[in-house]
Amino acid sequence: MSDKAILEIGGEKYELPTYTGTENEKAIDISKLRGTTNGVITIDPGYKNTGACVSGITFLEGDKGILRYRGYSIEELAAKADFLEVAYLLIFGELPNQEEYDRFHSDIKKKSIVDEDVRKIIDAFPKTAHPMGVLSSLTSALTAFNPSSVNVDSEEDMYNSVVKILGKFPVLVAWTMRKKQGLPLDYGDTSLGYVENVLKMMFRQPHEEYVISPILSNALNKLLILHADHEQNCSTSTVRIVGSSHAGLFASLSAGISALWGPLHGGANQAVLEMLKAIQEDGGDTAKYMAKAKDKNDPFRLMGFGHRVYKNFDPRATIIKVAADEVLGDLGVDDPILDIAKGLEQEALNDPYFVDRKLYPNVDFYSGIIYRAMGIPTEMFTVMFALGRLPGWIAQWREMRLMKEPIGRPRQIYTGATERAFIPVEKR
Ligand code: CMC
Repeated sequence: MSDKAILEIGGEKYELPTYTGTENEKAIDISKLRGTTNGVITIDPGYKNTGACVSGITFLEGDKGILRYRGYSIEELAAKADFLEVAYLLIFGELPNQEEYDRFHSDIKKKSIVDEDVRKIIDAFPKTAHPMGVLSSLTSALTAFNPSSVNVDSEEDMYNSVVKILGKFPVLVAWTMRKKQGLPLDYGDTSLGYVENVLKMMFRQPHEEYVISPILSNALNKLLILHADHEQNCSTSTVRIVGSSHAGLFASLSAGISALWGPLHGGANQAVLEMLKAIQEDGGDTAKYMAKAKDKNDPFRLMGFGHRVYKNFDPRATIIKVAADEVLGDLGVDDPILDIAKGLEQEALNDPYFVDRKLYPNVDFYSGIIYRAMGIPTEMFTVMFALGRLPGWIAQWREMRLMKEPIGRPRQIYTGATERAFIPVEKR
């Protein structure tokens, strides 16, 4: 947009520069607004109209259902790529050649050992602890075991931190689940691919050999790719803003995990399955839940529906719905919950409440059904989302630091009491 934006406040006109992205997205640059207007700021709760940064990682066009990582469509990546090459792409900007891929994978494997003392921390959590709380704590605790901070001006230092967290994180994921299940904590098998190793670390039983199922590894590979990045969502913005204070990578990721946990964000995948189970136990009465979701006096929302940015369809949901059918078919699982989900989707797609508000199934509507078929416990679903989102968070953190972004510090408009005198307690 070559035009300037003109803003008029109290009869005074201000010219504001504009900004155009590579996909022709347009923005008004308000970075100097406060200074030039003598204190006027913008207000936008929930940041529905605020671009927090410029970024070259992920492009998302909600109205058309487009999602691309570094220019590659999500459809193509989900169908053809391997999660680790997508991670490399997101973090470093290009798909790796074979040599780069092998070195990346080998370095990740070398760094995958987690200090034995971390087991003592896991032991201290009650079995009832939610895995997202455990994972966030363990990720933060990694800082204590790897105290050197990242010198962001050193490419080598940055690379080492990236491979370290990509190596250790799946171990923490697997240990979090195994601890809850009372299984011994151990490492996987470095002869395997990244995704296959995750499965083995999670599911290997102590008394038997673990045989990798290509159905499960393909399904997990796809799910992780679909979740790998989603530009400036709640958890990614958290990672960027925490990192903007120059807090370390692991501390920033730990904050991102906490943000992801909420049911309006990543926690929706657990909430969806719990909702579908509740509908099933209630005799499959989807109409009752549709009515609850539409009732403004009822806080219930149809979990897995709606998205801040996608107002047409979520391309990830389209891919995942097909994958759910395939995986359940391949595994020979006949899950009545899938039928309930499909029924609910049809009802919502034909209901004026959902149509008018442009509420469509999002990525999490069907992901839980696949995770369930894979034998992953419901409480672990959001942890699996975190495992997928890890490269996106790392890429965004790295970009933010390399661009030398200033500390994130929003403004506010104060609406509280004006100045008043203190009254001693006996006189109140
Ligand atoms: N069920 C019923 N009503 C809904 C729903 C829903 N799932 N989502 C939005 N609405 C209504 C909302 O009540 C509002 O109605 P009205 O205009 O009459 O007040 C309108 O739709 C707009 O909703 P909003 O809350 O202003 O929209 P938002 O962009 O702020 O919220 C959302 C987006 C995803 C938080 C929301 O749609 C939601 O809570 N969905 C359910 C949770 C969910 O599935 N989250 C996963 C998101 S995808 C995974 C991820 O990337 O995190």
